[in-house]
Amino acid sequence: MNSLPMVVHQPGLPPKVTIYEVGPRDGLQNEKTIVPTQVKAAFVQRLLAAGLPIVEATSFVHPKWVPQLADAEQLMTGLKAELGPAAAQLPVLVPNERGLDRAVDLGLRHVAVFASATETFAQKNLNRSLETQFAMFDPTIGRALASGMDVRGYVSMCFGDPWEGAVPIEQVVAVGRRLLDLGVGQLSLGDTIGVATAGHVRALVNGFIDAGIDPDRLALHFHDTYGQALTNVHAGLQVGVTTYDASAGGLGGCPYAKSATGNLATEDLVWFLTGLGIEHGVDLDAVVATSGWMAEQLGRPSPSAVVRALLG
Ligand code: HMG
Ligand code: MG
Repeated sequence: MNSLPMVVHQPGLPPKVTIYEVGPRDGLQNEKTIVPTQVKAAFVQRLLAAGLPIVEATSFVHPKWVPQLADAEQLMTGLKAELGPAAAQLPVLVPNERGLDRAVDLGLRHVAVFASATETFAQKNLNRSLETQFAMFDPTIGRALASGMDVRGYVSMCFGDPWEGAVPIEQVVAVGRRLLDLGVGQLSLGDTIGVATAGHVRALVNGFIDAGIDPDRLALHFHDTYGQALTNVHAGLQVGVTTYDASAGGLGGCPYAKSATGNLATEDLVWFLTGLGIEHGVDLDAVVATSGWMAEQLGRPSPSAVVRALLG
């Protein structure tokens, strides 16, 4: 069997896409059994070797909140020893100044803050209100930018919230706008619980465009709970978004979001983009082999359809 689909171009889509790999962070943060630090380091290195241009490595959050990532310092120190200066380019999550201090101490250059579009999730994920989350991000982003770092801003619950239901597009745009005003370079719009559908994706991106925000500044971050993630990528491509977050093997979920399941699998995204002739730079077989290896470490098969098809 051929491990690549036939290429048939579709006019009107971007020629090139950036895949932002979140497996070592979003993929692993929800795993109950602690994954050894050396396995995490090997995971990051294998993903880089497979051609993934950006690999989000871990989070500098409170270890009580996400015990799986309590080894962030050890992981990044180990990766610095193995990769040299390239390790400083790996992005990490920082919710606040304490997290930023930890990233700065290690000489890291790319951080991401994570905001909520809803009141309930701000409380559950950040122990802050929708409003007071910005008081936490303001000095964090300001200090990061002043020291020459690059800051990404996630917005969670952009398409629906398990406690509040539908989330108005204007509310999401307002949260994104405030992060951009604080200086984030790119906004990643998160479908934390995987409820987005294609029309909603186009409407949300158009909401940002109508607010004067170029789709070049946006990334889309889909979880695949209802099997809509690839259709949603297609919708995002149609409205000009060229960065997509994905997790090798489809691992993932947020420990503070009820009903959140795995992220869009990197392999499913690579298969889809390859078929459309959209350049992505990723070696599919190498990512599939990595996810097969990771599935052995975790003791269960990957949920990715492409990984299952190719590993037989
Ligand atoms: P808090 O309890 O309000 O923190 O938590 P605080 O500021 O009141 O500080 C309390 C103590 O925690 C202090 O220590 C701080 O030093 C310490 P004490 O003085 O009591 O000894 N502390 C820290 N320690 C280490 N690292 C830190 C840190 N910050 C404070 N960074 C906080 C507030 C934001 C820290 C907490 O709520 C937290 O860690 N939340 C993280 C939740 C999380 O990681 N969720 C998953 C990531 S988001 C996601 O998955 C969604 C995404 O994928 C997109 C999508 O799908 O939608 C991105
Ligand atoms: Mg996520």
